[in-house]
Amino acid sequence: MVDTALDIEVEDLTFHYPDGTLALEGVSLRVPQGGRMALIGPNGAGKSTLMLHLNGLLRGQGTIKVLGQELVERNIGNIRRHVGLVFQNPDDQLFMPSVFDEVAFAAVNAGYDTEEVRRRVSKALDTVGMSGYEDKHPTNLSLGQKKRISIASVLVTDNRILVLDEASAGLDPAGRRAIIALLDSLNSTLIIATHDLDLVRQLCREAVVLKEGKVVRTGPTAEILGDAEFLRSCGL
Ligand SMILES: Nc1ncnc2c1ncn2[C@@H]1O[C@H](COP(=O)(O)OP(=O)(O)OP(=O)(O)O)[C@@H](O)[C@H]1O
Ligand SMILES: [Mg+2]
Repeated sequence: MVDTALDIEVEDLTFHYPDGTLALEGVSLRVPQGGRMALIGPNGAGKSTLMLHLNGLLRGQGTIKVLGQELVERNIGNIRRHVGLVFQNPDDQLFMPSVFDEVAFAAVNAGYDTEEVRRRVSKALDTVGMSGYEDKHPTNLSLGQKKRISIASVLVTDNRILVLDEASAGLDPAGRRAIIALLDSLNSTLIIATHDLDLVRQLCREAVVLKEGKVVRTGPTAEILGDAEFLRSCGL
């Protein structure tokens, strides 16, 4: 039976990288429509690996459903239209020759006309504080600026789901506050992998803790972040 109230449903996901590394082992999680889930855990826990599964960039064993559709070959195109993914490392994300083209890419793909694409790009750049950088080559930006452009490139369409790997990493304090406020203002379902526990506290009511590829705890953020001994035992 399809549970339409769940936007993301991961069931018993296991993934090995080609070199044999077991990065995810029996991972299950559920994010309801409009939910905001934090994914926390030490370096190497498997957070990014899990994120890359949510729009089919990596394929493991187990079942993933996004917006009620099973993430299999024939559904991937459709699922990607609803899921905006911000990579941990902007250099893995940015590939167009100008900031404008980079941010416009998803809007062009979504079929908006030229005028609407311009309007959306302008709004997304304004939102991340990067107006005026349209003609610059994304490679020639600072790390935090690249992160801002990565975020703008998923804000340009109205994604039902945003998957953000380290949304705030590399941003200056003002940029970080602006992104948190922005995310807080969206109705999209959010899943955020981060080491920024303040961001988690501010944005996410629920959290999943990954350690060595396994879910070691799921529950209300306030409870998990209030358990100092548990956090220490997870390297957090
Ligand atoms: N391309 C790859 N090939 C082989 N192993 C990899 C690859 N990418 C990641 N790994 C391994 O998979 C495991 C999970 O890595 P992942 O990047 O998902 O961790 P993470 O929780 O995102 O860590 P961080 O907090 O540092 O971002 C680690 O043991 C890592 O060394
Ligand atoms: Mg990571």
